Amino acid sequence: MKSCKISWGISAILAILVGVMGYMFVIKGSTIEASDGRTEIQLSVGERDRVLGEMRLLLEGVQAITAAIVVDDMAAVAEEASAIGMVLARGEDPAMIAKLPLEFKTNGFAAHNAFDELAQNALDFGDREMVLEELSVILTACTACHAGYRVGLESK
Ligand code: HEC
Repeated sequence: MKSCKISWGISAILAILVGVMGYMFVIKGSTIEASDGRTEIQLSVGERDRVLGEMRLLLEGVQAITAAIVVDDMAAVAEEASAIGMVLARGEDPAMIAKLPLEFKTNGFAAHNAFDELAQNALDFGDREMVLEELSVILTACTACHAGYRVGLESK
């Protein structure tokens, strides 16, 4: 009976430990509170360069999509949007992904996915207004994430 209680105790401690570790690694990622109140994700130099490089590709994509909407070229809208869709999120380094908070990953994937949907809708409906409205919704995902997070360098 006594050893049974002890093993239950150990199991409970282990469960709590796994929970805490799960929180640390999956939900919180590698983060601290930044000086401006945002959550700072701490990455290596190479990882930060990669993330920011991807961000610039997103902005370049948004610029190209906007230009294509202006001239009502839905094929070009689709092409530019798919270029910054899920293809851009594939091949990320698992070690870097582990440092990202869960919410950040979810929002990031959702934004890439939304560009794939925008591409499909541009082809299926060819409706400029609809595409523009979708783009404005995607842009709120960009601004929301920027308001909550920033990228810093991990201290070694
Ligand atoms: C899941 C979160 C997230 C989403 C979604 C997101 N970003 Fe970012 N982006 C960031 C973070 C974090 C930074 C770094 C900001 C900082 O350190 O101040 C950043 C930085 C940038 C930068 C600056 C890059 C540089 O070289 O400094 C650009 C441009 C940018 N994002 C564009 C976009 C655009 C356009 C979208 C939407 C299509 C977008 N981002 C969506 C998180 C996100």
